[in-house]
Amino acid sequence: MTFSKTISDSISYSKSVESRLKVQHLPQYKPKAASSAGSDVVKGLTHIPKYLSPHYLYDDRGSELFEEICELPEYYVTRTETSILKDCAEEIAHITGACELIELGSGSSTKTRILLDAYQKLGLPLHYLPIDVSAGILEATARQLLVDYPALKVHALAGTYEQALGELERSELPTRMIGFIGSSLGNLTPEQCEDFLSHITAGLQLGEYFLLGVDLQKPKHILEAAYNDSAGVTADFNLNVLDHLNRRFEGNFDRTKFEHWTFYNETKHQIESYLRSLETQTAELSALNLKLNFEKGETIHTEISRKFDINGVQELLKTKGLVTQKVWTDENEWFALILSKLT
Ligand code: AVJ
Repeated sequence: MTFSKTISDSISYSKSVESRLKVQHLPQYKPKAASSAGSDVVKGLTHIPKYLSPHYLYDDRGSELFEEICELPEYYVTRTETSILKDCAEEIAHITGACELIELGSGSSTKTRILLDAYQKLGLPLHYLPIDVSAGILEATARQLLVDYPALKVHALAGTYEQALGELERSELPTRMIGFIGSSLGNLTPEQCEDFLSHITAGLQLGEYFLLGVDLQKPKHILEAAYNDSAGVTADFNLNVLDHLNRRFEGNFDRTKFEHWTFYNETKHQIESYLRSLETQTAELSALNLKLNFEKGETIHTEISRKFDINGVQELLKTKGLVTQKVWTDENEWFALILSKLT
């Protein structure tokens, strides 16, 4: 008796997780992707000066290293945003009321739990739409969340932001909020930023919300320590780009012949990260038919991390019709969360 009860319980339980989960794989425009795979690498590495898209930082190893970065004493970014979120999550839930949460680049959804807890505490329904290119992490995370939040419904979208924002269905709930936290906006150039925000507003209905996390301008020495930590994890993260290219495009980059180089550009208010060649050398990416020469000291630009001022971001949002509802920051004003509404 007890045995069969246990079985039926576990069946109904897992059914209930299944019934609350929908995973949608957005059509990968495969033909184009296959033929153009690596064309951005060729373009960047044959450009003078050489550069790569920051998205090459995030293969599995890169994502793992980024998680390690978040734990570093010098990397205040994640810690600071988390503490702000803990302080303001309930207020956000109050402002939006019953609301579908859409998250761009959800990853392991660690910070999202803080929001889910707040909506749950206020007795509001929990509908979550995580969007991430990494389908594996997306689905595993969704399942774990469904176990931990029995009232939660998840509709996971595997694909790029642009694809997913074009595919959003109208919410069953009165409103929706798109969350883009973690200051990933900082990886975009001002032009890419404009484009990105246009996609956001295209995905929202009037009256719906956008929650944005941005890292703020602060003294150079604090920023430079955060992107050049003493344990060398950020260096490892940056150099992993070469391993990633080797794996992906049959390359022979020798990472020991490059060094991590990063500094804060005070005019542009951005951390600029590079890989710098320690000697004159050649490297090759066979799958791309690409042969490269490096002078000693020559660089590959791998990432920018822009640092914002609160008013500037609000003005930018305003030009897209996103009107600030409230801004939260920490006591040092190192990081800000901005809740805006499409009007
Ligand atoms: C994930 C883009 C927010 O720019 O701070 C961390 C990535 N690069 N250390 C950032 C990163 C080097 C990070 N973002």
